Amino acid sequence: MKNLVDASHKVLTRLASVDIQVLSHDEAADLALALRPLLHAHDRQYHALDAPVVSDSEYDRLFQALEQIEARYPDLVTPDSPTHRTGAAPLDRFERVRHPVAMLSLGKAFDAGELKSWYDRCVRGLQSQFGEAALRPRMTVEPKMDGVAVALTYEKGQLTQGATRGDGAEGENVTANVRTIASIPLFIPALSSPTGLAAPERMEVRGEIYIRNPDFERLNDAAARADEKLYANPRNAAAGSVRQLDSSITASRPLSFVAYGAGPVEGMASPPQGQYEMLGRLQEYGFPVSEHAALLNSVEEAQSFYEAWLRKREELDYEIDGLVVKIDRFDWQQALGAVSNAPRWAVACKFPAQEETTVLNDIRVSVGRTGVIKPEAALAPVQVAGVTVSSATLHNADYIRDRDIRIGDRVIVKRAGDVIPQVVKPVEEARSGQERVWEMPAHCPACDSPLHTFPDEVDTYCVSIDCPAQFIRLVEHFASRGAMDIEGLGSKLAVTLVEQGLVGSLADIYSLTAEPLLNLWLFAEKRADNLLEGIEASKRRPLSRLLFGLGVRHVGRATAELLVSRYASLEALGAAPAEEIAEIDGVGEIIAKSVANWFAVEANRNMALRLREMGVNTERLPEEAPREGEDAGAAAGKTFVLTGALPTLTRKEAQARIKEAGGRVAGSVSRNTDYVVAGENAGSKRQRAIELGIPLIDEARLQALLDE
Ligand code: IVH
Repeated sequence: MKNLVDASHKVLTRLASVDIQVLSHDEAADLALALRPLLHAHDRQYHALDAPVVSDSEYDRLFQALEQIEARYPDLVTPDSPTHRTGAAPLDRFERVRHPVAMLSLGKAFDAGELKSWYDRCVRGLQSQFGEAALRPRMTVEPKMDGVAVALTYEKGQLTQGATRGDGAEGENVTANVRTIASIPLFIPALSSPTGLAAPERMEVRGEIYIRNPDFERLNDAAARADEKLYANPRNAAAGSVRQLDSSITASRPLSFVAYGAGPVEGMASPPQGQYEMLGRLQEYGFPVSEHAALLNSVEEAQSFYEAWLRKREELDYEIDGLVVKIDRFDWQQALGAVSNAPRWAVACKFPAQEETTVLNDIRVSVGRTGVIKPEAALAPVQVAGVTVSSATLHNADYIRDRDIRIGDRVIVKRAGDVIPQVVKPVEEARSGQERVWEMPAHCPACDSPLHTFPDEVDTYCVSIDCPAQFIRLVEHFASRGAMDIEGLGSKLAVTLVEQGLVGSLADIYSLTAEPLLNLWLFAEKRADNLLEGIEASKRRPLSRLLFGLGVRHVGRATAELLVSRYASLEALGAAPAEEIAEIDGVGEIIAKSVANWFAVEANRNMALRLREMGVNTERLPEEAPREGEDAGAAAGKTFVLTGALPTLTRKEAQARIKEAGGRVAGSVSRNTDYVVAGENAGSKRQRAIELGIPLIDEARLQALLDE
């Protein structure tokens, strides 16, 4: 990668001293010739490998230079120019394209048992043809992306066509649209691949266009504000964006792409023999592929992988609706063939749906610890992904108004893991006319004081300092897992302690004794002891957790950690002026002011002092100290575990290379492991990785990762 970095800097230096507007045609042509492959290579680093080697602003300078050249000398524009992602002229309708090889659909399995039935059928089929040799066919497992399937045709390396799946036999020509998607390579490089292979004569790459959840939320929020139609979920948004007749609209949408296979291929040097190897090759060609794809040896491994991903799916910032399990070897895929419209050699292991519809019976409001008033949906109970949901968040008054959510509506409810269920949108088609528009109450439901809104803020607040509901929420938050983690102090007890007058300030928690607890008939002795032990143990929590627990507005866990990386004690932070706090990278003025304002209140300062007097840790612990040089290499900060014999590297060499790239090598697999590198005869560590859903990579992928 050093070459790419050096070449880029050479061009950047040259750019700094030339004015493109005065370049001759020949000079401009020369520069464009240098810029184009660089930009393609950076696109690949960024999108396919997640490992950019220049800063965003350096990239932008290269990009703008090419744009300026092309604007000045339009004859220098090439069809594969990386600048051409802004969209073409609108179409009247999409042209139909016939897929040379049908884009099949997939048979489904709904649990680990059905997955095994599918595998057993494959084994029987293969054994009848190949005997013993096919006793344990290996499988590649990949996330099943929830987006739109597309087929991308590359001729002599150039992207010449993009088509939707359509009905599988015929799709729509969306070439102008796919060209606008930054992570879709406009051409397959010939020689830059580590294998030194030329691009194939002709190749169809198949994959999924999708939208990441945060991008989807931003897109829908903007649509809501502009009074435009909302998309029900990221998949619909992706499909709607790909099927725009005006490709400049597609260009404005935050679309991502992941490749999962190849259609017809002609003239590919040393073609891969199986799915896993194909994914590696696609990545070399510059396509993003799933980092969670794994090559598995047995159906038991595949079953564990499925079970693990039932939970792990929540950690992704995009939606998957299951896993796709494929018999790895292409010749065996061929031998198994297909039934009507689905291959026998692959199966979609579906996850339970996370969205259902139900009736919104009422909207109520609750008071949060900062006084924020949250509207909540009272729903007719409905099962979502195995859990009964009867309430869900509606965020704020704007959210309800923008989406025109009315009491009595049938609504789409979404639940993802531990996240609070939310009402996505109403099903407008189901309205009877009896639905009622809701309005935010004018007074606090807990203390009856008038509610307030602030300019530039969507939330409504109760600003009374005497509001008991706010303080109860604060106690609850202070004691919660992510903050001081006080065993035994949950929501119910927080209410009682505050209502009974035992806790009137956070510091009072630390002067609680057994007697009043027992006197108030709150507890049996054992429970009181447990609570007091929990309180005692919480005195040793890291400073960032205490800071987070204090409930200072805008100070979440990550911000608390940033603050502690700069200030070694609560006292030091309390004494710091807002301007100084704002200098911390990632903090900014609003947070800094909020922190300074909190410490400016005498009651808060006294409370902090009392906490320290009661023995609560207010100093930065050694493990919280800022670490140096974390982001040095491509593997920086990542933890690897090696298992089994790798084909070319010895264990020692692999360790050394990982360390060189800034990574760590650990001896055992835990939730903190980022990658397990598995070679021949890998044993229990491999199994553990599968159970925990940790990316399992082979040596080739490790090399690709470290080379960048
Ligand atoms: S393989 C014949 N792999 O699922 C093989 N499909 O129900 C079929 N999909 O339309 C495709 N992620 O859009 C494959 N990793 C993945 C996938 C995947 C999502 C979609 C694809 C297809 C549908 C099939």
